[in-house]
This record gives sequence, C-alpha cells and structure tokens, in this order.
Amino acid sequence: MNNEIKAPRGVLVKSMGFSLALALLFTLVANLLPQVEGEAPVDQKVDLGALTMESYVALGETLFSGKGTCSLCHNDLGRAPDILALNMVEVANQHLQDERYKGSATDAESYLHESLVDPGMYVVKDYGKKGSNDTISPMPAVDKSPIELSEIEINAIIAFMQAKDGHDVTVSLPTEEPVAEAASPEVAESADTIEAVVAKYSCQACHVILGSGGDLGPALEQVAGRFTREEIRQGIIAPDAVIAEGFPPGVMPQDLAEQMTVKELGILVDYLAGGGEFSAVPPTAKPSDDNADSRVEAVISNFGCQACHVISGSGGKLGPGLDDIGARLNAEQIRQSIIDPNAVIAKGFSSGVMPPNYSEQMSEEQLDALVVFLLERK
Ligand code: HEC
Ligand code: HEC
Ligand code: HEC
Repeated sequence: MNNEIKAPRGVLVKSMGFSLALALLFTLVANLLPQVEGEAPVDQKVDLGALTMESYVALGETLFSGKGTCSLCHNDLGRAPDILALNMVEVANQHLQDERYKGSATDAESYLHESLVDPGMYVVKDYGKKGSNDTISPMPAVDKSPIELSEIEINAIIAFMQAKDGHDVTVSLPTEEPVAEAASPEVAESADTIEAVVAKYSCQACHVILGSGGDLGPALEQVAGRFTREEIRQGIIAPDAVIAEGFPPGVMPQDLAEQMTVKELGILVDYLAGGGEFSAVPPTAKPSDDNADSRVEAVISNFGCQACHVISGSGGKLGPGLDDIGARLNAEQIRQSIIDPNAVIAKGFSSGVMPPNYSEQMSEEQLDALVVFLLERK
C-alpha cells in the first residue's frame, strides 16, 4: 500500500534547516500511518513441495472463513448448518442413508465433495430455498463464480471438515502443479473499482450485483430508485437497523464498517445509488458507549493527526488547531476536510500538506468516530 506522502507543494521553504525538519516530519508521519490490512478473502499460496497434511488442513480452515466464504452462511446464526459445531463426517453418513438423497456419493468424502459442487443433491431439512419445500438448495456451487474454488481448494476444505472432529483425512495431498491456479497476489490495498470492492467483500455470495450472485439477500441492482444514498449506506454498514422485507436479520455481515475503507464504501454507495458525488454522505454514527473516547484517541494517534494539529491541547502547528473545529465547521465539512483535504483549504494554511489518502486507509467507522469527536470540540 502506498504510504508515501508527497512533498508539500505550497509550503514556502525558507531555509535548509526547515526543509530538513519537514522531511523528517513527513517520514515520521508516514511511519505513524497504520498498515491497514484488508481482512477480506485472500488467496492462499500453496507450495506443493512443502505441503504436509497438517498444512493442507490448515489451508482448508483458512479457505472456510476466507475465499470460500463458507462462514458467511455456515455459522451459529441458523441460516445454514453450523459446520464448525457439527461432526460433518457423521452428518454425511446419515444423509447418505436418507431416502431424500439424490446424488451418487458412496462415502463421507464423496458426499462432502458433492455437497460443495452440487448442493441440490441433498437439501438439509428446513434449509431449502423458501417455498421449494426443501427441494432447492440456496447454497451456491463453490466451484463456480463467484466463489470459484479450485479442486485443490475444495479438497483442502474437505480435509479440514474431516480433521476438525478427529476423523482420518481421506482426501489425498495434491501432486500436480496447480500453483498458478491456487496462488494470486494479496489484496490488502483499498479496492478502487466496483468490481474489486464487490469481490473483496463477497457481496455476490448473497446478493445479485453486477449481474450475478446469490439470493440470500435482496438483489441490489434495483435499490437505486427505492433508497436514498444514506439509506443505502446504512444498509451496508448497519444492516440490522432496517431489515429488508422478506429477508432474515443477522445474515448480512455486521462488521463491514470496520473492514471497509471510506473509499470502498463510497464506491459501493455511488454504484448502488446510480452515480452521484463520492463522499457526499453525512456521518450519522453516535458514540454509543463509554469506549468511544478511547477508540477515537487510538484513531488520532494511529493516523498521526497530532503531528500537525493541536487536539485536546497538544500537537503540532503545521495545520490549524482543532480544539474549536466544531464551532467552525459542520459534520459534512469536517468529514470532507479529512478525506479530501485539498477541496477546501483552511485560511492561512497550505494545500498539499495534509495526507490526501486517508479515505483509502481509514475505515468508515474510524472516520465517523473522528467526525463525531471533532464536532464536539468547541
Ligand atoms: C450463501 C450461503 C452459503 C454459502 C456461502 C455456503 N453454504 Fe454450504 N450450505 C448452505 C445451506 C443453506 C445449506 C443447507 C441446504 C443444503 O443442504 O443444500 C448448505 C449445505 C452445506 C453442506 C451439506 C450439509 C449436510 O448436512 O448435508 C455442506 C457440506 C456445506 N454446505 C459446506 C459448505 C462449504 C464448505 C462452503 C464454503 C466453501 C459453503 N458450504 C458455502 C449455505 C451456504
Ligand atoms: C452472508 C450474506 C450477505 C453478504 C455477504 C452481504 N449481504 Fe447485504 N444483505 C443480506 C441480507 C440477508 C439482507 C436483507 C436483510 C437486511 O436488510 O439486513 C441484506 C441487505 C442489504 C442491503 C439493504 C437492501 C434492501 O433492499 O434493504 C444492502 C444495500 C446490502 N445488503 C448490501 C450489501 C453489500 C454492498 C455487500 C458486500 C459488501 C453485502 N450486502 C454483503 C445478506 C448479505
Ligand atoms: C502532515 C500534516 C497533517 C496531518 C498528519 C493531518 N493534517 Fe489535517 N490539516 C493539515 C493542514 C496543513 C491543514 C490546512 C490546509 C487544508 O485545509 O488542507 C489541515 C486541515 C484539517 C482540517 C480542516 C481544519 C479547518 O480549520 O478547516 C481538519 C478537520 C483536519 N485537518 C483534520 C485532520 C485529522 C483528523 C487528521 C488525522 C486523521 C489530520 N488532519 C492529519 C495538516 C495535516
């Protein structure tokens, strides 16, 4: 990720000493900026030469909650069988005997494999698609778009499901050279296209968006006319505040506000609202608990704001003091000053000094906390 801060354009450099001090300051600020790690699914590198069954099982566990997106549905919220809590080898053996079973598996391993690539062969009672009387599975085939697990990845997950309850792992270690298929560069950077954001947060596991996806949640291509930008934003970062009719609460991930950068959320809202100004959405978060203050202090120190601003009585003077900022700017102006600092330049100060890329580094939650905190400084 890009932590470089460009040399300030507008600052008048009067002496070498000042210039050097400034260079040091920027190095310092750059180092203070946190490395924001995307927690989104990241492809695993598989070095087949060094692969042991133990590490193959570990890969399966990572895929289960990562790229495979299994834990989005298979968790303790009741929308799909809680695989981590169930003994899946025993479950598989039972379902193989069930008269409703339509597939061609002969043992637990082949049953689990079939469940992943052809989920409709057996639909667990009460988990079928609504109105289908348990004949149609809502689970996507995991070897197809958008999840697209390779055979090696599917087998790793089966190995994990066998090993976690102490059963013998019956899948064999991969031998051929699949590295190109299984490995790809990490996605830790802030995604910058709608396709990349949707892929990074697996929206298509549950929603039709960009033309394809699942139907555990409402199709998102039609939200534009029905919702304001603010409602769309809430639908993403506080999904349980308003529940879409006919859909269950608690299924949509609850932590997207922490995971997404401000920029990523802006891209999504822009796309779903059908265009419009990026970041024109006012903050609505309220500090809801006693930890709000300590959390915002951590944000301020993480992002090095006090290198340039006096906040709560201490800090540098390169930017305006912020202890009265709530009396001078409204919430939307404060928000914009942080994520798009060069849009409006505070009187008497230079443009190009404040880091211009906070929107790619801060989560929406961090930005909201900052805005609410600064709004109260008057
Ligand atoms: C969009 C939600 C969703 C995702 C994502 C999903 N599943 Fe499922 N899965 C379900 C539902 C609902 C069922 C129960 C209905 C059925 O039997 O098809 C199910 C059934 C299963 C079963 C069969 C259980 C049984 O008792 O027969 C297995 C095994 C399974 N899933 C594994 C996985 C794995 C592994 C992944 C990730 C690679 C995954 N699923 C991803 C929703 C999902
Ligand atoms: C594990 C499944 C799941 C995933 C992953 C998921 N959602 Fe959702 N989402 C739902 C469900 C279920 C609802 C309906 C219930 C509710 O409103 O909370 C919903 C509701 C919404 C709504 C409100 C729509 C309406 O008609 O009220 C929006 C907007 C939305 N999701 C966007 C997204 C975006 C964008 C992503 C990816 C960043 C995403 N969702 C990921 C399951 C999911
Ligand atoms: C490298 C120095 C630097 C850092 C680090 C920095 N700022 Fe700034 N900031 C400035 C400068 C210079 C200005 C005035 C010029 C402008 O408006 O862009 C400014 C302007 C602002 C303003 C508008 C003030 C006004 O009176 O209009 C706010 C709000 C603000 N910064 C908040 C923050 C926050 C919050 C952080 C940390 C997340 C931060 N800044 C980090 C240098 C910095």
